Amino acid sequence: VNDELLVAAFEALLSRTGGDLLLLTDERLRVLRAGAAAAELAERPAAALVGMSLIAAFGSAPLDAVARTALTEERVVSGEADLGRLGSRQFAVDAVPLGGRGLVLSLHDISALRHMERVRRDFVANLSHELRTPLASIKLLAETLSSGAVDDPATMRDFSTQIEREIDHLAQLVNELLDLSTIESGAIHLQLEPLDPREVVASSIERILPVAERSDVRIRQLGGAEGEVRVLGDAHRLSQALLNLAHNAVKYSHPGGEVRIGWDVVGKAVRFNVADDGIGIPEAHQNRIFERFYKVDRSRARISEGETLSGSAGLGLAIVRHIAEAHSGRAGVESLEGVGSTFWIEIPLAVPTDQSRAASGQGSGLGAGR
Ligand SMILES: Nc1ncnc2c1ncn2[C@@H]1O[C@H](COP(=O)(O)OP(=O)(O)OP(=O)(O)O)[C@@H](O)[C@H]1O
Ligand SMILES: [Mg+2]
Repeated sequence: VNDELLVAAFEALLSRTGGDLLLLTDERLRVLRAGAAAAELAERPAAALVGMSLIAAFGSAPLDAVARTALTEERVVSGEADLGRLGSRQFAVDAVPLGGRGLVLSLHDISALRHMERVRRDFVANLSHELRTPLASIKLLAETLSSGAVDDPATMRDFSTQIEREIDHLAQLVNELLDLSTIESGAIHLQLEPLDPREVVASSIERILPVAERSDVRIRQLGGAEGEVRVLGDAHRLSQALLNLAHNAVKYSHPGGEVRIGWDVVGKAVRFNVADDGIGIPEAHQNRIFERFYKVDRSRARISEGETLSGSAGLGLAIVRHIAEAHSGRAGVESLEGVGSTFWIEIPLAVPTDQSRAASGQGSGLGAGR
């Protein structure tokens, strides 16, 4: 038979396309030739695959089924299969029959695409959930008011106040979403300038004080390094990030608790810290809380008087991390459940201090703020 011709044609195809996720099989679905990437996927050298059945080589029933259908029905068949270690990657598969003599199988990795689709689906589901809660309260309150069931002015005022509060939460959610999408799309335009970290801290403290007072939490400012230190940052965004951290620290503190906000020079960056002695975060969640919409447990948050939790969307930390990264910095947390949390963001120095210059043994590595 003319298998040699087939093989030659296959090799020519491989060399032309560079699409080495290709397989050639005979009419009994035994591998005749495999491209390098296909062999890697099967975790065997390409030569070792030759003669193996498709199902033995890849252990994938869907892949086998696509191939079988193409063979028996003599037509091009497309499908999908999970391949690789533990089926961790998704592939689009096309099986092209070769006139009863076998098949060419082409595999195309669609894992990234599938991941994106999942992220988008989760996002829409989360968002609908976050919107529904306050909308339901507003509807209920408004219906009660218009039904005339409430006639004393004090209760009516109270209802209107609640409606306003829910609307504020919705507005905050929309603002956070807009912020997040601007930052994520890379459209964020940072107004970078050398900033005094003391001023960044002071402006965030000024904004958190009223909230802290209402929740009976003290705010303490910790002194930073001596001398003149400048970070290269966007004043508005940095103080927004610190404010988000401070907001959480207050929200998850116990009454009478204390939140400490400070900064220090660490290497070529300034590390801003927000520490609390609140409920802390179980270790299993610490990696995930920076994801958008991720919340440890709604019921654990303290709700100060007149506050509802529908305003807690789980977006604050996602914004913090994005702001830090947009500054070529980082954000993180150390926390012990039941003891407290210290959140931090590191932002590069505008000009290296004497200390960091001595430590790194060279001049400015950041090259900015001249
Ligand atoms: N200081 C903290 N102490 C304990 N848990 C915290 C602290 N900060 C954040 N968390 C946990 O991380 C989750 C995510 O925080 P994030 O700021 O992103 O969302 P949120 O505060 O719930 O809502 P939003 O900030 O959008 O109003 C919180 O829901 C909470 O479970
Ligand atoms: Mg928050």
